[in-house]
Amino acid sequence: MKFFALFFVFAAISMSNVDADFITVAVNIILSIVTRNMERREYVELIPKYRYEFPKEIAVLAAGSLELKNIRLYGLKEAHKVMAAKDGAKDNSTHYVENVGIYLNVPEIFLELEYDADLGFVDEVPIYGTGNIRLQLSKLLLNLTTEVSINKQQLWKDITVEDLTLDFGFRHSSKSQITNFWRNKTVSGILSTTINILVELFSMWFNYEKECINCIVGESIQKAANEILHPKNEVDSRFDCECLRVCILGTLSKKSLTMRACF
Ligand SMILES: *[C@@H]1O[C@H](CO)[C@@H](O)[C@H](O)[C@H]1NC(C)=O
Ligand SMILES: *[C@@H]1O[C@H](CO)[C@@H](O)[C@H](O)[C@H]1NC(C)=O
Ligand SMILES: *[C@@H]1O[C@H](CO)[C@@H](O)[C@H](O)[C@H]1NC(C)=O
Repeated sequence: MKFFALFFVFAAISMSNVDADFITVAVNIILSIVTRNMERREYVELIPKYRYEFPKEIAVLAAGSLELKNIRLYGLKEAHKVMAAKDGAKDNSTHYVENVGIYLNVPEIFLELEYDADLGFVDEVPIYGTGNIRLQLSKLLLNLTTEVSINKQQLWKDITVEDLTLDFGFRHSSKSQITNFWRNKTVSGILSTTINILVELFSMWFNYEKECINCIVGESIQKAANEILHPKNEVDSRFDCECLRVCILGTLSKKSLTMRACF
């Protein structure tokens, strides 16, 4: 039933002379379908199966195979989600501007997968086992806002993503684990503890660098979206993020008059 609704929305938008309100309604219907789907499913399947085998040519260095199965993301069902579009104030004579906001607050999110490994490196370090890997984070927050400008004359041909801002953060959780590594419970326990320590260190680093990472990732998403929407346009590869600017700090005199130059 939902897909039929979507079909009519697309059919209606494809006809000319739609107005800004209509676009807002259409975008909101699409966003609510995404939200409902998240609510209905226990998990999102990211990749059903992945297999890697080291080539025979490098058998001296590394050999064996690794298979990952049922890579699934859990927790979105319980998330508090707000996805909505509204008419932007920046409409002008040639473009409609939609403000789109995606907000997610996920108490516990985890990635689970099955692994089957039988690897060796330089005949010294064996990595083998068949079990599960679970990577967990808590209090994941995502707040993405953006403006989408749509040409009034050519709805599909000229859509541009502008002013995308991203606020993403999370806390570590000590529930990550790996089972059956080396087919040994003790070893798996030690490795799980190590993974949890690494996740905590990553989380500390992330939160320390959060503003800069959010800025770079936000700009990257915007560039990627525009590249998909306008494959023929040249993409500006520069980043505007403040944190990427190189600053020269100098002291001019002993009275500590500081001079600052940024590029
Ligand atoms: C209208 O807004 C769009 C998108 O922000 C911009 O590219 C365009 O130049 C604007 N047109 C006018 C006439 O201001
Ligand atoms: C999400 O981000 C926007 C723009 O940065 C901000 O205005 C809004 O208050 C944020 N929402 C929440 C719930 O933090
Ligand atoms: C599991 O590993 C521990 C520590 O290396 C070892 O003492 C123990 O004997 C192993 N257990 C089995 C069942 O192989």
